[in-house]
Amino acid sequence: MRVTLIGTGYVGLVTGACLAEVGNHVMCVDKDAAKVASLKAGNIPIFEPGLESVVAGTVKSNRLEFSTDIAAGVAHGEVLMIAVGTPPGEDGSADLSHVLAVADDIGKHIDDYRVIVTKSTVPVGTADKVRDQITEQLRSRGLGDTPFSVVSNPEFLKEGAAVDDFMKPDRIVIGSDDDRASDVMRELYAPFNRNRDRVMVMDVRSAELTKYAANAMLATKISFMNEMANLAERLGADIESVRLGIGSDPRIGYHFIYPGSGYGGSCFPKDVQALHKTASTVGYDARILEAVEDVNKDQKTVPSQKVVAHFDGDVKGRRFALWGLSFKPNTDDMRDAPSLVIIDELTRAGATVVAYDPVAKDEAAHLLGDRNDVILADDPMTAVDNADALILVTEWKEFRSPDFDELKRLLKHPVIVDGRNIYDPVRVRDLGFTYYGIGR
Ligand SMILES: NC(=O)c1ccc[n+]([C@@H]2O[C@H](COP(=O)([O-])OP(=O)(O)OC[C@H]3O[C@@H](n4cnc5c(N)ncnc54)[C@H](O)[C@@H]3O)[C@@H](O)[C@H]2O)c1
Repeated sequence: MRVTLIGTGYVGLVTGACLAEVGNHVMCVDKDAAKVASLKAGNIPIFEPGLESVVAGTVKSNRLEFSTDIAAGVAHGEVLMIAVGTPPGEDGSADLSHVLAVADDIGKHIDDYRVIVTKSTVPVGTADKVRDQITEQLRSRGLGDTPFSVVSNPEFLKEGAAVDDFMKPDRIVIGSDDDRASDVMRELYAPFNRNRDRVMVMDVRSAELTKYAANAMLATKISFMNEMANLAERLGADIESVRLGIGSDPRIGYHFIYPGSGYGGSCFPKDVQALHKTASTVGYDARILEAVEDVNKDQKTVPSQKVVAHFDGDVKGRRFALWGLSFKPNTDDMRDAPSLVIIDELTRAGATVVAYDPVAKDEAAHLLGDRNDVILADDPMTAVDNADALILVTEWKEFRSPDFDELKRLLKHPVIVDGRNIYDPVRVRDLGFTYYGIGR
């Protein structure tokens, strides 16, 4: 099949490359000329395990190409997938300007049947807006009878495991109100359905809501667990024992009940906010969503609060090592990362932060700019050297079993704030460290 991805970011690039991998001819279009030039030169703009080889292989086989030309993209694809960003607007609702700009572009160029797919995470009702925008353009061109379908196909991939998630999806949600488009989408996804049918066809609005409900549920689990951790700490319980105690109940399960320093990334924070906002537009006060967001905002400040409390409220002139900058391991994405809040809190209190991350250094340099109070180290032990304490915020594998003797030798004070509970408090304390975890 010929497919066009419009928007070649995390979702667009992974989707395009994986669809090309199974035999489709894919054109990835993006308005960012520098990004497209870089992709054409063989560079991958994001860190995503396994992506580079899929892109290289499919480009070499002439099944994946990159372009800035939307007219060429619309002419190329039988299926046109919109995968542009939907960042939060000022009021927290999803900003649809990129999605609707693409719809406008599509309307300017289509002249026969296309299936137009919203892959971006978009509020309920967006497919109608996309349809209206395209129809308006077609009418202005005197082509109001041109047939097209708008389908919702939300993406559930996880950064850090995106290629694997796309190739082996748990489910493929297709929101479609017409059979012709549903058949095209079933055919497109058939290669991902070999051992069981993962396609769920539902009405468009339900598909749009499914994506938000999934992210809101996951965010809720995290905030709930963080709330329990904060309670455990005050009640003298260990949240890690509690986690095992509840996870063993199959109705609860072990997934996504890790206490920590709050969730970040490009999805949960903005999606929970956007759903909250959507609820308010239909007169519903989504109290759980509001609480999930509030708990998360506070949780991001917990590690820095522990550090400040350890130094009796005064960290002016002190230097802290921070391990992990990306919002989670295996990605360089720092959007809404807890590390940014910790850096902000500590530097505002007059401290310097020396941070290390296995892959997000460039992204951090780009986001944080040139400042005296944040230093980006090239390796974990350089970050720790002469620091007053170590704060771990992203649980990269390489942090799991550090040389504690070396750590102790390098730190000015043997203090560890473990923002993801990856260390054994008993062992670390036995080694002579002051250990702070989350909820233990
Ligand atoms: N990142 C994730 O893990 C993830 C997972 C599932 C769903 N989503 C959703 O997918 C959507 C895209 O997210 P992302 O992380 O890939 O975003 P991104 O910011 O990485 O990429 C978006 C791309 O769209 C391009 N773009 C913007 N306007 C354009 C236009 N008019 N024409 C052509 N290109 C245009 C941008 O230049 C950018 O390269 C969002 O709605 C997001 O919520 C993201």
